[in-house]
Amino acid sequence: MAQKRITIAIDGHSSTGKSTMAKALARRIGYAYVDTGAMYRAVTLFALRNKLIKGEQVDEKALREHLKRGDIAITFRPTKEGKSVTVLNGRNVERYIRSMRVSNVVSIIAAIGFVRKAMVKQQQAMGKDKGVVMDGRDIGTVVFPDAEMKVFATASAEVRAKRRYDELRAKGDTTTTLEEVLENVTERDRIDSTRKESPLRQADDAIVLDNSHMTLDEQNEWLYQLYLSRVRS
Ligand code: DC
Repeated sequence: MAQKRITIAIDGHSSTGKSTMAKALARRIGYAYVDTGAMYRAVTLFALRNKLIKGEQVDEKALREHLKRGDIAITFRPTKEGKSVTVLNGRNVERYIRSMRVSNVVSIIAAIGFVRKAMVKQQQAMGKDKGVVMDGRDIGTVVFPDAEMKVFATASAEVRAKRRYDELRAKGDTTTTLEEVLENVTERDRIDSTRKESPLRQADDAIVLDNSHMTLDEQNEWLYQLYLSRVRS
């Protein structure tokens, strides 16, 4: 019997490994994966390149015009290695959207109502045929409130900070301290949860995944079992 295709929403705090787990699940079950954070990052890159952000100030009028005119086309393209890269106006921007320059201001762009509206519309179009795993902050609450499977990923701020710190070290950063990373994690939680537009919150019907003390394998299996229970019900 053919499995029914469902919509899977994975939301949660920053640095909980949402995209890693969402990607792994999508690959295992043959679903498309959509990284919605990458979309907000791509809009931010566009705004930076077009000098629409000065300090913390955004030229909202110009950004709105660009969005309205369709100047900011965001898509995802599969690579030969089986990965997916973010494409802005025909160019692979994966490397640039992960830079600190973008990370530092993306939460300002992601808090703008008309930007969110435009992204949500695209995300809904991408998932209209189901068979999609989407990760973000508002997928189970705003983008797909009817998703059959909703996960809210979290872990203690200390554990998340330690993971980020280890990643930075592995990339050769020897100056950032664990305390600084912890402060950044706590601050991002605060901004994400208190912003006016679609704040990060757990959907009433989301299942909490606290992976503070889970291995990657345990987490992947947990998600897969939840998926099986949803397609069988
Ligand atoms: O998951 P990430 O760190 O790549 O997300 C980048 C930013 O976008 C972060 O500030 C949270 C925001 N975001 C959001 O507001 N809504 C989403 N659906 C996804 C990300």
